[in-house]
Amino acid sequence: MARGDGIGPEISDAVVTVLEAAGAGIDPVELPMGEAEYLAGHASGIAPDTWERLRRHRVLLKAPLTTPQGGGYKSLNVTLRKRLGLFANVRPCTSYAPVLAGPPKMDVVVIRENEEDTYAGIEHRQTDEVMQCLKLITRPGCERIARYAFDWARANGRRRISCLTKDNIMKMTDGLFRKVFVEVAREYPEIETEHLIVDIGTARVATRPERFDVILAPNLYGDIISDVAAEVAGSIGLAPSANIGPSLAMFEAVHGSAPDIAGQDLANPSGLLLSAVMMLVHLGRNAVAERIHNAWLRTLEDGVHTADIAGASTRLRVGTQAFAREVAARLGEVPQRLSPVSYPEREPLDLAAITARPAEAGVCRKTLVGVDVFMHWDLGERDPELLARVLKQAADGLLDLQVITNRGVKVWPNGLPETFRTDHWRCRFVARPDRPVIDNVDVVLLLGRLQQRGLDFVKCEQLYDFDGVPGYSQAQGQ
Ligand code: NAI
Repeated sequence: MARGDGIGPEISDAVVTVLEAAGAGIDPVELPMGEAEYLAGHASGIAPDTWERLRRHRVLLKAPLTTPQGGGYKSLNVTLRKRLGLFANVRPCTSYAPVLAGPPKMDVVVIRENEEDTYAGIEHRQTDEVMQCLKLITRPGCERIARYAFDWARANGRRRISCLTKDNIMKMTDGLFRKVFVEVAREYPEIETEHLIVDIGTARVATRPERFDVILAPNLYGDIISDVAAEVAGSIGLAPSANIGPSLAMFEAVHGSAPDIAGQDLANPSGLLLSAVMMLVHLGRNAVAERIHNAWLRTLEDGVHTADIAGASTRLRVGTQAFAREVAARLGEVPQRLSPVSYPEREPLDLAAITARPAEAGVCRKTLVGVDVFMHWDLGERDPELLARVLKQAADGLLDLQVITNRGVKVWPNGLPETFRTDHWRCRFVARPDRPVIDNVDVVLLLGRLQQRGLDFVKCEQLYDFDGVPGYSQAQGQ
């Protein structure tokens, strides 16, 4: 257990009170992480030997951690998920109407890919004006999260999975996520599927949450959708999450360390408590998980609420520790108006099988057909004709200059004067018709010639065909 920062220690105490009262048989070992570790000089918020202890224990219940402001500190939350291979993030978002304000029927589980996408954290400043962030989506990454979502849905009696991407714009990265979703879905004919573009999909989560069952999304969209869903359900303070990997798992509330109310016995411990319930199910202690969850529902139903959820149905407004004692006092009881939960014993998901399956795509014939050279260029009033002239001279007899784009939009040949131009140019060179077979020596020669002319190339990206299919996007307007 990591007791966390801000409200972390108080909600951790509250959760331990309930676990002990329920006879969960948990003997938590405290692992130091977060603010104190950052300030002790560990830039990632955790000491090297703690990683080893964590890997031995294999299951972490983590209270929220504060990432100190300022340069150099990396979010430990993201580091933990990625270093420990916790590829699946499961966030149930349930409404509790009529006991709490919220939609009458909402029971959505967001399954978010947890390691890839723009969260790879690979960012560069390339020119005076331009920053870039790499979005990485891999076939094995898509396969394991899609398979996890279907296995999870099947094991939990869910009927429908909605996949949300933006593949109309990101045809290759989000396109792969959707394609693999469709491929994997064929193995689960009993589960209904749909795909929605993420913008309208998220809007519908906000307005018609009852139409969703399980939502599957890449990392960034999943992060946003799950916060929207948690807030729509009633309060982000109630939402739990599980981060699952082949050998380790981490359970945490969706909310942060809430420094504004820390140390005042005001915080709602429910998000962490429900995360502990998910942990107990993961550990196969379903009966005790069920007892705690139902006692918690009964507590809400009896009108015993912390300040953040207090409203019309509140009969007793309590602090963090008193709330935990009220839940403990109701162990063995079930809710009367809200639906009780049940966690029947079942085989755990075979995570090794989910993650070990080989990618369906076989080895392709990969052919180099050209190169995109990205230039930092700020001369001649940024006239693309001028840049094209210099580039064509440099590439003469080696490769053909095909197109120049600025922020992805074609500016040469036949660009429009209205197109805004920054100091960052993507210059696409392709193999000449009379010399169609090229290799990286040609790329290196080209770069050498650009260097000789004093042209500042900031990166190059080879263009490959895979079994004859272009593995690169076309320029907008091309
Ligand atoms: P936050 O979730 O901590 O707080 C947002 C608002 O919700 C605040 O008004 C807070 O008082 C309230 N709130 C949050 N949890 C509550 C609870 N259990 N009971 C009652 N009220 C609650 O988000 P914020 O302010 O953006 O972040 C604060 C710190 O938390 C930052 O250092 C951030 O990096 C960290 N953080 C950590 C996370 C984690 O450990 N998984 C996740 C999100 C943020």
